Amino acid sequence: AQRDKIESLLAEMTLEEKIGQMNQESPSIVGGFEVPFGELIEMVTDGRLSNAEFKKIMSTAQQDCHEDEIRTGGVGSLMVQDPAKTNELQKIAVEESRLGIPLLFGLDVIHGYRTVYPIALAEACTFDPALMKKTARMAARESHSGGVAWHFAPMVDIARDARWGRVSEGPGEDPCLASAFARAKIEGLQEPEQADDPYVAACLKHYVGYGACEGGRDYNTVNMAMSLFYSVYLQPFQAAVRSGAQTAMAAFNDLNGVPCTVNKFLLRDVLKDTLGLPGFVVSDANAIKECVSHGIAADDRDAGVQAACAGLDMDMGTNIYKNHLKEAVESGQVPMEVIDDAVRRILSVKMWLGLFDNPYLTEEEMHRFDTLPQEHLALAREAGEKSIVLLKNEGNVLPLSPEKKIALVGSLADDREEVVGAWALSWRKEDCVSIRAGMEKAFPNLQYFPCGGPEGDMNADEIQRAGAYGDVVVAVLGETKAMSGEASSRADVTLPGKQRELLEKLLGFGKPVVLVLMNGRPLALEWEDRHVPAIVEAWHLGVQMGHAVANVLSGKAMPEGKLSASFPAMTGQCPVYYNHPSTGRPASKSKFTSKYLDAPLDSLYPFGHGLSYTSFALSDLQVNDAGEALDIRVKVENTGDRAGVETVQFYMQDVAASIVRPVKELKGFVKVRLAPGEKTKAAFSLPKQDMGFFDDQWKYRLENGVFRIFAGSSSRECISEEVAVCFS
Ligand code: GLC
Repeated sequence: AQRDKIESLLAEMTLEEKIGQMNQESPSIVGGFEVPFGELIEMVTDGRLSNAEFKKIMSTAQQDCHEDEIRTGGVGSLMVQDPAKTNELQKIAVEESRLGIPLLFGLDVIHGYRTVYPIALAEACTFDPALMKKTARMAARESHSGGVAWHFAPMVDIARDARWGRVSEGPGEDPCLASAFARAKIEGLQEPEQADDPYVAACLKHYVGYGACEGGRDYNTVNMAMSLFYSVYLQPFQAAVRSGAQTAMAAFNDLNGVPCTVNKFLLRDVLKDTLGLPGFVVSDANAIKECVSHGIAADDRDAGVQAACAGLDMDMGTNIYKNHLKEAVESGQVPMEVIDDAVRRILSVKMWLGLFDNPYLTEEEMHRFDTLPQEHLALAREAGEKSIVLLKNEGNVLPLSPEKKIALVGSLADDREEVVGAWALSWRKEDCVSIRAGMEKAFPNLQYFPCGGPEGDMNADEIQRAGAYGDVVVAVLGETKAMSGEASSRADVTLPGKQRELLEKLLGFGKPVVLVLMNGRPLALEWEDRHVPAIVEAWHLGVQMGHAVANVLSGKAMPEGKLSASFPAMTGQCPVYYNHPSTGRPASKSKFTSKYLDAPLDSLYPFGHGLSYTSFALSDLQVNDAGEALDIRVKVENTGDRAGVETVQFYMQDVAASIVRPVKELKGFVKVRLAPGEKTKAAFSLPKQDMGFFDDQWKYRLENGVFRIFAGSSSRECISEEVAVCFS
């Protein structure tokens, strides 16, 4: 029935109306200032215009939401953040345009809409797909009431280079964890839990390989062997399409010389024809036009023709489709089938969302989350607590008893807006709990001293006062939310500004110092690791960050996070990741091996690393060949004096294969909660079908031979057994 409706609609549509569906607009700002809007943004970005002045100009400017084009069926989708406005625009589309095709409203909802939860890089550290699904479900409900039916999420770009600012938006360096994250997010966003439970269309991004931009420099070129592409970078996208992801966004970058935006092989052959994406592909912002800068298109029209023919169905923000496709079709450069396929895909997503039957929000729906429900805040807090990674705790400085006299230091600790991290658009300041607010509630004898922060400020008097107060110093240092995310690559990933100097002064008072990191990427912490007894990775955890951090520092909640990305000792090691090939000369102390003269052999904190307030021991690893799968069991014991959660990780190594394989590959993980002294068996069944790899021709290879199976508390702390496996 839905297909028939689409076909009959398609048959009625003029070419202009078809192209209208392929056109996504953003409200443009008109009037109220003398410079073009783009120039205004540049002025804010480079500081020629303050945020306050910008806000003042925007308060007088009008928004043009392209009402006239909507009326003539010239717009298929809009990016709008105001539910009343979406209803108003939807009414024009449905009741005033000739065919009444509803608009699709999309927005960047990456880690929460109003209830912002941890950035993806942090949430991946929970190794808890059920939790990842719950937070996505919450975001779908909240954003739906805000008029948003399409999230430009999840971002599932594998990233191995901490210099890249967008590592903050995705699930880290490992394809197994990233695929579990991707599946959970698709299920959470697109699958209602009961009949009237709102759901949204997901948008897998950025398709594909964006995280491998050379030098970690955003938007830079991407080159890689196709066997690596298929076995690592494509994996989370493949997993998400299998889970029913409706749409995808083409990435800015070229892959091996062909920009994804015009890459027919990637968009049609791989994503649509082989993986079977049911919906459509949207470009990234302005990306069709940028194909001219890439040097793959002679002009806008050429870029539009190439993109449409390559399978890029919707144009985000350039109007190139609107301005050039009609003539390109009439001249035969773009076959009508290409247009029909794109429009069919776009209409099928609108149909799947039920927009034809229910295009409007009711008043009740619009105001459902004017006050955030306690269970949403509790979920954000839980996700925050479980995303925190205890990197170091020498002498068990942590947890801190509630009566401790704490000197809380760092301007980041008192800036409640910083907790939301990169790519949070729809939150309210009053919902955000700063680390200072959370800590003051948990520790009555706490005093706060700003002392300085990531922008380079440092106040010697405040440092003196902080050092003179109390028994322990808790220093909250790291990055502002603007230092990660899009267009935020850093060539030096140590603590920015004078924060290390600040830390050195604090250490000079001879009291224990706890370093709490607020940051959006792995940082190079070799110096901090040598000098600071306790280091807690707290990322940007969202609106409940203050309570999540206080609960973990006080021991009310146990730290259970495990790193989703390796931390380098020094920036020069980037890209650094655990699942690397051995090389013929694996790094060792002897000179002629693969390492640096001026840096440690390996990452500082490896993928999967994370301590607890107790300790665990793994022993007695057993691997049994059960025919279709390897049954793996390992004994886990809580050898400490507190309850805790351990994430037991299962890795494998294909010791010899027809192409070199990583020294370790995560294949599964199990979380176990144990009381002091308690023992259990963690079990994982590894299907033999999952033990292969893709070659350059995308052929999946299962090759008989010796495999090493590992069980570990991190990718470095493991026990292992060797098995010979025969697949035939
Ligand atoms: C941005 C980002 C993309 C986002 C889009 C719309 O440039 O690359 O992740 O979804 O534009 O805001």
